[in-house]
Amino acid sequence: MTRVFSGIQPSGVPTLGNYLGAIRNWVPMQDTHESIFCVVDLHAITVWQDPKELARQTREMAAALIACGLDPKRCTLFIQSHVHAHTRLAWIFNCVARMGWLNRMTQFKDKAGKDREAAGTGLYVYPNLMAADILTYHATLVPVGDDQRQHLELANDIAEKFNHDYGVDFFPRIEPMIQGVAARVMSLRDGTKKMSKSDPSDQSRINLTDNHDTIALKIRRAKTDPEPLPDHMSGLEARPEARNLVGILAAITGTMPENVLREHGGKGFGSFKETLVEALVAHLTPISTEMTRLLDDPGALDAQLRLGADRAEAIASPICAKAEEIVGFLPRR
Ligand code: TYM
Repeated sequence: MTRVFSGIQPSGVPTLGNYLGAIRNWVPMQDTHESIFCVVDLHAITVWQDPKELARQTREMAAALIACGLDPKRCTLFIQSHVHAHTRLAWIFNCVARMGWLNRMTQFKDKAGKDREAAGTGLYVYPNLMAADILTYHATLVPVGDDQRQHLELANDIAEKFNHDYGVDFFPRIEPMIQGVAARVMSLRDGTKKMSKSDPSDQSRINLTDNHDTIALKIRRAKTDPEPLPDHMSGLEARPEARNLVGILAAITGTMPENVLREHGGKGFGSFKETLVEALVAHLTPISTEMTRLLDDPGALDAQLRLGADRAEAIASPICAKAEEIVGFLPRR
């Protein structure tokens, strides 16, 4: 059976972008694939995180994933730092990946900003750890949003170079799975920027924990333009904010943007936004209610995560040990 791996950073509350672009697509995979999902706290500290907040957000992210439909009985759900194979293999990949490859990563350029000299080295080698996350399970299918495409291409370059340098056929090729109209959900304040949990403006995103009033306020304030909605997709081309809202309504109601325009074309944003608010509230309220319930019993949640880590470790550790043997490390006897 194809093994699936994906991860999410606990660097804030999951957003509608995380949900529509990734998490929602993970849920049905539990029944069709051997599925492994990970809260990537090691990746989160590539930019400063307050320690207490990181711990809280890690548990909150795990609760969010379960509330969205991941079932720790049907998938392996765990915290990245609990399974040491990730960092062991990442070190080997630090030695395999080339500086030139990492220099091309657009996400590093974005996150490091102008002062690259001041960026943490962890941020620079971030994609090597991501390659290790996937390859220490020999996972081959990786469901992600569009922004992760370049990182997955790099993971394939690393796997290929490792196999070539050591004359083995050990790491498999990874297939990205980037799905649907919501593979790139954009900011509510600027239709050219992706919706992100780390955007300083909370108004730019819908969080999975937002209540009815907050969702209504954010959607009513969402940037639009003065034109009514068009009848056809071609009318959305130069209108990123309108295209984004149409895409969100389509994704959340499980239809195509064309159908949304068939219903709302010619109308102004007022009534459209009310429909969008109702659809979002109906979809997200059960998720946030379930999150609150799960977070009320942190002991039970932690026990599920411990079990997930045990299962993950059982797969990852032997694969990582084999990679270490290929490299020539003397085993501890
Ligand atoms: P992260 O935490 O930024 O996002 C988690 C998932 O959500 C998707 N996503 C979006 N999709 C659509 N529209 C958006 N606005 C949006 N924002 C985020 C992301 O594409 C991602 O699928 N590096 C990864 C975490 C990671 C990982 C891995 C993923 C670590 N190791 C191994 C896959 C495999 C990240 O920062 O995701």
